[in-house]
Amino acid sequence: AENSKEVISMKYKEIISTLPKRDTPYPPYEFCQYKGFWFPFNFLEGIAFLSEVFKADSSDIFLCSFPKTGTNWLKALAFSIMTRSDQRFYGSTKLPQEIVPTMETDYVFNPTILDAHELPLFATHLPYSLLPQSILDSDCKIVYICREPKDTFVSLWHFTKTLEKTVEELKDIRSNPLEQEFEDFCEGKSFCGPFWDHVTTYWKASVDRPNRVFFLTYEDLKSDTLGYVKKLAEFMGKPFSHYEEAQDVPEKIVTRCSFQNLKSLSNLEENKTRSAGLINNSSFFRKGEIGDWKNLLTEDMVKSIDQITQEKFQCLGFDF
Ligand code: A3P
Repeated sequence: AENSKEVISMKYKEIISTLPKRDTPYPPYEFCQYKGFWFPFNFLEGIAFLSEVFKADSSDIFLCSFPKTGTNWLKALAFSIMTRSDQRFYGSTKLPQEIVPTMETDYVFNPTILDAHELPLFATHLPYSLLPQSILDSDCKIVYICREPKDTFVSLWHFTKTLEKTVEELKDIRSNPLEQEFEDFCEGKSFCGPFWDHVTTYWKASVDRPNRVFFLTYEDLKSDTLGYVKKLAEFMGKPFSHYEEAQDVPEKIVTRCSFQNLKSLSNLEENKTRSAGLINNSSFFRKGEIGDWKNLLTEDMVKSIDQITQEKFQCLGFDF
């Protein structure tokens, strides 16, 4: 078939071979710059495939994020909101991150994942400008979670270290020092970077289409989880009834998706290894706090990254 994985993959191999590349200590995951954003080589195929074959339905909901900004927390919350009265998921100890696929990355490891999806709920790390046209053209809803850039970088740094320790083919690699990784992040050459451009694409979309694109921050979600769970439920078209509020359903969802709870779930034997991907599920729950950058970044690093954030975000009018 014209749209088969093989045909599309041939077509894109050529395109991918012409893209700007970046030196990386991990040759199998060489980064390429595609339409302004940096992705590991092997994800580009997934991205290309999605843009050709993915057909969004108007009832679909997409959870979008830059990596390490709270994707899995948002997955858990949206999943719990959507399935709160669905018997199929009631009492399940399956991790939401296994049920809600991150389309382009999970696809790389398991191409059938999108055929087998159980719910109209998907996640993606693609910037708004690279979403499959069918998503942009449809009436589906998009939730974007964003996080303070220093904390995002620090979370990414620790995640990368964990990857190096757990993934067999990366174990012997001497990776970049912190200074280099930091510089790359600031220059936009990190996974799905530039961070600031990624955020900007969704911020603009949320201003243009407020009924379709809901923009929230990790920090807001942390400071008022219950309030945002209610807002999310409303945005998703599943507001809590008076009866549910009286039964503390929103509060129960907050507890069910707490950092501690998700971490314990991810440590259950049946959830330990991820069905799609390289890394254990528990690696997605490290600390879950605001301001951990204070334990890693130097004063100079803070100064330079804050300046970039100010330059890039001032005009958008939002703050962390
Ligand atoms: P830290 O590394 O700072 O701990 P992602 O899901 O996009 O990969 O983001 C991972 C980050 O979200 C990690 O940050 C992780 O601890 C944090 N996180 C995951 N679940 C959370 C929760 N329920 N509450 C708060 N933070 C959470």
